[in-house]
Amino acid sequence: MLLFLDTANINEIKEINQWGVLNGITTNPSLVVKEGGDFKSLVKEICSIVKGPVSAEVVSTETEGMVKEGRDIATWAENVMVKCPLTPAGLAATSILNSEGIKVNVTLCFSVNQAILAARAGATFVSPFLGRLDDINEDGIRLIEDIVEVFRIHDLKTKVLAASIRHPVHITKVALAGADIATMPYKVFKQLVHHPLTDAGLQAFLADWNKAKVAVSSKA
Ligand code: G3P
Repeated sequence: MLLFLDTANINEIKEINQWGVLNGITTNPSLVVKEGGDFKSLVKEICSIVKGPVSAEVVSTETEGMVKEGRDIATWAENVMVKCPLTPAGLAATSILNSEGIKVNVTLCFSVNQAILAARAGATFVSPFLGRLDDINEDGIRLIEDIVEVFRIHDLKTKVLAASIRHPVHITKVALAGADIATMPYKVFKQLVHHPLTDAGLQAFLADWNKAKVAVSSKA
C-alpha cells in the first residue's frame, strides 16, 4: 500500500518527504485555501518536492468547466493528477480527460456503486472517504473492503485510494482491506512511527552503550 499525505502545507510535505516513505500528495480546495497564495504556484511547488502523483482538484461544477480546468492543471507538472468530484458532470469530465491521457482521481466517493462508476469512467484513482462515513455512524472500513473486493471480482484497474483517514488504526485496517493507497493528514503520518516501546528500547540500548564506553575508557 502506498502512503500519501493529505495536505497542501509545504513544511509538512518537506518533513515527511525526508523519511523516504512518501509516495504522493492529495489536496482539496479546503486544504489549498488554508495555505493561502496562488493555487497553481502551490501545486507546482508541491510537485517539485514529491516524486509521486499530486492531486489538484477542479472547482467547476459543469463538465465543460472541469475539462477546461483539468486540461490546464495537467500542464503544470509531470506528476500532477486532476481530481474530479463523483457527480454526473465529474464522471463525464473524467471520461473525457482519461481519453486524452490525463490521469484523474475521482473524489468524494461514499458507495461501492459510485466507485464502479468512477472505474468505468476511466479514473486512475477513486477516493472513498472513510472517516466521513464513520462520522455519520456508517462503516468506512467496510466500504474500502467492499470496493477492493468488487474491483478484484470484476478486474477493474482503478486504484483504491482510502481517504478521510482520522487515526493510525484506519491505516492498518485499510492496508488489511487491500487498499492500494492511503492518504492521511500530517498528524496521522507522525502517529504511525511512534511507539512507546521503541522509545524506551532505544533509550535502554544507548544507556547500556554509554555505560560500556565509560567502563572501557576507565580501564585504559
Ligand atoms: O482529501 C480528501 C479527504 O482526505 C478529506 O478528509 O478529514 O476532511 O474528511 P476529511
